[in-house]
Amino acid sequence: MHRFAVEGSHFLLDGKPFRILSGAVHYFRVVPAYWKDRLQKLAACGLNTVETVVPWNLHEPAPGQFCFTGVADLEAFIRTAGSLGLQVILRPSPYICAEWDFGGLPAWLLNVEGMEVRCCNKPFLQRVESYYDELFRRLHPLLCGQGGPVIALQIENEYGSYGDDKAYLVWLRDALRKRCGDTLLFTSDGPTEELLRGGTLPDVLKTVNFGSGSCGAFAELRRVQPDAPLVCMEYWNGWFDHWGTPHIRRESDDAAKELDAILESGASVNLYMFHGGTNFGFYSGANQQEAYEPDVTSYDYDAPVSEEGDLTLKYFSFQSVLAKHGASALQTLPPPLPRRAFGSLSLDGAQGLFHCLDALSTPVSSAVPLSMEALGQSFGFVLYRTRVSGPRASCELKIRGLRDRAMFFVNGAFSASLYREGKEQSAVLSLPQESNTLDILVENMGRVNYGPDTAQRKGILDGVLLGCQKHFGWQMYPLALDNPEQIPFRGEASKHEPTFYRFYLETQEPADTYFDAAGWSKGCVFVNGFSLGRYWNIGPQKTLYLPAPLLHKGRNEILVFDLEGGAHPVLHLTGERCLG
Ligand code: GLA
Repeated sequence: MHRFAVEGSHFLLDGKPFRILSGAVHYFRVVPAYWKDRLQKLAACGLNTVETVVPWNLHEPAPGQFCFTGVADLEAFIRTAGSLGLQVILRPSPYICAEWDFGGLPAWLLNVEGMEVRCCNKPFLQRVESYYDELFRRLHPLLCGQGGPVIALQIENEYGSYGDDKAYLVWLRDALRKRCGDTLLFTSDGPTEELLRGGTLPDVLKTVNFGSGSCGAFAELRRVQPDAPLVCMEYWNGWFDHWGTPHIRRESDDAAKELDAILESGASVNLYMFHGGTNFGFYSGANQQEAYEPDVTSYDYDAPVSEEGDLTLKYFSFQSVLAKHGASALQTLPPPLPRRAFGSLSLDGAQGLFHCLDALSTPVSSAVPLSMEALGQSFGFVLYRTRVSGPRASCELKIRGLRDRAMFFVNGAFSASLYREGKEQSAVLSLPQESNTLDILVENMGRVNYGPDTAQRKGILDGVLLGCQKHFGWQMYPLALDNPEQIPFRGEASKHEPTFYRFYLETQEPADTYFDAAGWSKGCVFVNGFSLGRYWNIGPQKTLYLPAPLLHKGRNEILVFDLEGGAHPVLHLTGERCLG
């Protein structure tokens, strides 16, 4: 049994003063075979604690169906950290932000009658309660009070930037106390009076998040909490990227100077991120201020340890700063991981989406188009199919509530595309036959993870207008793409339609490598059935990191789903990454 507590302006671990020197590593953004590698690098840098958020949508993908295996094996991650002598800070709040789809809230919540998230709304609290029962049944033995490495738990994430329902914060605090005894609880907020007022509780440790200006930030924190340890719970030493905007970097000298200032003030710190990793699958989130801005697949974050596990200049600068402030390394560095340019793989087979709809999906019929969530689906695409009368030389089509991007096909031929943020808000189609098949492929590009926008349904939300008339009679094919092994491949492809391509990599020496997206348009990649993430030729990210543990000795299957299709006789696996 261990005890971690606050005493005056210090933390005590088993009665001895303890300064939290933490780095964020999100287990679900790293393949499990590399958890130890990344955590050894963290401990070798001079940090003594690892912090992670816990995404509810990963652990409860459907109501009452829990997942704690593979990248979701949180218990194994915590045990790995503990075995290396690290403490663990967990942020299991229902909402995590973190550039993660819907801030970690499950999309199926949107189907629950009367749902309002992040407040004292019964339908929401009921779902949190049953998730917490399962989560903390697993986590309880790993809490420090039980001899485990978990020293602290966050009750909500930057709630002051979202709402003012104190009763909700109290409810969450009590939900944790009930399940986790006297484990130290905390909140984290932006360092302003307003944000701290909104997001904190009188009897819960307050911490602040920032990327610069530590003096001012800690002064604000001291004003609301004069006699407690200073903690920067998220020191943003890098940042994340959106599709279509330049790759963001932060110089290591500048970042190290700020870290020095934080430590000089005697504060504890959590580096956000220490190692960012990858937004695998369809989990990357988005921002919505003036415009909708979806996040890229890489979560490299320009962090001290890069997406593929390399030690950067920032790593060594931070290591010196930490050493200057008395930190010592708990571990030595692991050996470097092999990396390879496997070169070009030749196409084995391809198949157009329209030829494998029935293999991938069971259609649902309805008078009006249904949203993705109403179809019981959280991620991926929905194909909306209907029949439209003609002939008409030109017919204006408007989608009311498009989330997020649509491609139109008339009688199987590509006709136009629309994006929710695009200049065009309607498409003009030509309908040559008396009866035409109209297909609309709608892509969910990631739910907003920050701010008040909780209208997060995807697909077509409020009908389709043809000219001035509402169009009725739809068939929806949900395409979560969680069963790509069902695709009946044939020879080559050349048509401009959404197409699946299959390649094989034969190797006796699996090694880290990268999918080179040059020449492809927009789509996603699957490696031996694992969903690697999205690519898009508008950049900035141009390669997708493919970690060796996803490969095995022998034959490996790599599938690409490209929205524009066309001829793609080869796929390149390169040895160098390009994030822009
Ligand atoms: C906030 C959130 C984090 C993350 C960062 C930006 O501080 O708390 O989860 O979204 O912003 O990376």
